Amino acid sequence: MHYEELYQQSIANKEEFWKEQADKLSWFEKPETILSQNNSGLHQWFADGRINMSYLCLDQQIEEGRGNQTAIIYDSPAFNCIKHISYNELLDNVSKFASGLLNLGVKQGDTVIIYMPMIPQSVIAMLACARIGAIHSVVFGGFAPHELAVRIDDAQPKVIISASYGVEFGKKIPYKILVDQALKESKYQPNYQVYYRREEGFDDLGGANEIDFEALYQCGSAKSIPVLSTHPLYILYTSGTTGRPKGIVRDTGGYATALRFSMEYFYDVQPGNVFWAASDIGWVVGHSYIVYAPLLYGCTTVLYEGKPVRTPDAGAFWRIIQQHQVNVLFTAPTAIRAIKKEDPGASFIHQFDTRSLQKLFLAGERCDPATFHWIKEVLQKPVIDHWWQTESGWAMLGILNKYDQREAIAGSAGFPVCGFEIKILDEEGHEVPIGSEGNIAVKLPLPPGCLPSLWKNEIRFQKSYFEKYPGYYLSGDGGYRNAEGYHFVMGRVDDVINVSGHRLSTGEMEEIVAGHPAVAECAVVGIADELRGQRPVAFVVLKDGVEIREVQLEEELVANVRNKIGAIAVFKNALQVKRLPKTRSGKILRKTICEIADGKAYSIPSTIDDPNILDEIKDALRIRQLGTAFELKS
Ligand code: COA
Ligand code: AMP
Repeated sequence: MHYEELYQQSIANKEEFWKEQADKLSWFEKPETILSQNNSGLHQWFADGRINMSYLCLDQQIEEGRGNQTAIIYDSPAFNCIKHISYNELLDNVSKFASGLLNLGVKQGDTVIIYMPMIPQSVIAMLACARIGAIHSVVFGGFAPHELAVRIDDAQPKVIISASYGVEFGKKIPYKILVDQALKESKYQPNYQVYYRREEGFDDLGGANEIDFEALYQCGSAKSIPVLSTHPLYILYTSGTTGRPKGIVRDTGGYATALRFSMEYFYDVQPGNVFWAASDIGWVVGHSYIVYAPLLYGCTTVLYEGKPVRTPDAGAFWRIIQQHQVNVLFTAPTAIRAIKKEDPGASFIHQFDTRSLQKLFLAGERCDPATFHWIKEVLQKPVIDHWWQTESGWAMLGILNKYDQREAIAGSAGFPVCGFEIKILDEEGHEVPIGSEGNIAVKLPLPPGCLPSLWKNEIRFQKSYFEKYPGYYLSGDGGYRNAEGYHFVMGRVDDVINVSGHRLSTGEMEEIVAGHPAVAECAVVGIADELRGQRPVAFVVLKDGVEIREVQLEEELVANVRNKIGAIAVFKNALQVKRLPKTRSGKILRKTICEIADGKAYSIPSTIDDPNILDEIKDALRIRQLGTAFELKS
């Protein structure tokens, strides 16, 4: 079988194709209905099947003889600890914790927020929710209390699970204090807060509804509850174009089917292999490839609480590959750029034996050709870029390794993955010619695993993804296809940027900047950054009559964004300008500003109301030496 044949089957005979894949899972009740539409006309997979994700990840693995195999390798340079947790141990902890949650009154369909560092207890909490049909919503530990509060109000969790602290380059991020701040801001109040205490005496659990994580282990043991395939496994909030994040909902049966398929056909791994997704459980990569896919496929997953560099050195990745005999590594290009920056001659890698590694997969942002060539040369292994999003839950473009021998090429995210009918469309919805850039869209229905809706917001779901091109899912990314069929994803075409592989909304930053009393209006754009891919820069117009030094305003705005979104926004620059470039109808020309900063050839839009403003933007960037076009190169 070759990729092309398999792919065509997945498009021409969708139901047959995905039924065959779903049959490989252990269902409590096998689905009779494969693809259907709900009352709102939204597609759903395996609607009448009953399944449980925690069962697939734990009980089934043990039934197949993997009880003593390591399920999780927890490697924490941050905490100076390495721990192997077997499938047996993990099941024991998950069942007990699940029972503890039931004891707190958490029922099937209730939501639970998990705001935790990269520790095994986070995975236990996720699997325990799945076990009893509770819907978890993991909030990335790098988000500030305001972001947590917004998610609490939207998800309305019965319980929040957190831990004493996370560790970031030696500094402690005290989660309990952050949760307390978030709860002061949120209108909704959960019934309980559960804290995993990382150090004796670190947290003062004073309140009646503040509970020690380990106390929940004392309430018996819970069996997995069969849930409908369409039952939400989780909500994962991601940045949209406004200040309000989108609550991406994930179903259970379709997701399990897609993840299992991806492990076999896409990553081409075997049960028992060591799979390391060097991401964070707060992102979709963490959900899919730190937790659910490796476990439901009987692999060993690496849970790494550290960074690619500085913990302890630029050899951290290679040390882990050697020590844990990692077979597959999955990370973001920004991590590779960080290693390359510290160790351009790749001297560290030669100190370690990385022969166990079969392939490196990259995603999360576009992999620039220089990084692709460098890491390929250094590793001497296949390097495969693949494109996906929180919305899709798994890869939409890439190279289906089991059946496709074509080589990955620099800058390309590969070919459509089974089930994804990818089209590149112009503004009118026509396919663009080969080599021309357009909006990347996917013909409906989406295959299993992709978002069935947004949490309690079907109107936004329809408007965000299906309004522009009826019958297609609008990805928000732009790109093109070459004559050989390789796809190139060039970046977002909306107000979403990607900073160090973290998806952020410039719209949200604009709301914060515009909230400053001195600011009349502003534009926040993502400009190219050698290490992080992109970083935000604000252009600010002051209110008439207001005088404030640029440096003071910048300090205040930086602090505001840091306090509201978090340090991960890496918002460091706010430039004062007299006016913003706009079209005659008043639309800010953000794309032109980016092109100027990135040193790209740009044409002055015919609709611009005053072309001279572009020179002011250039001057502002030049004075501060910001943007690749103006930075001083040493
Ligand atoms: N909790 C709290 N703070 C966090 C955090 C977390 N989980 N993650 C990052 N931060 C903070 C950092 O401490 C830093 O704070 P500072 O400004 O006070 O120094 C700030 O956010 C920026 O962090 P980051 O963007 O991570 O920069 P860095 O210099 O610390 O590390 C990289 C740069 C490239 C090594 C790092 O961003 C990285 O590993 N990125 C890969 C991301 C990834 O895996 N994405 C998932 C998609 S696959
Ligand atoms: P997230 O939802 O956080 O996973 O971010 C998804 C966004 O990251 C996509 O919309 C793209 O803009 C970007 N992205 C992810 N993977 C790739 C890739 N391989 N190539 C280019 N962009 C990517």
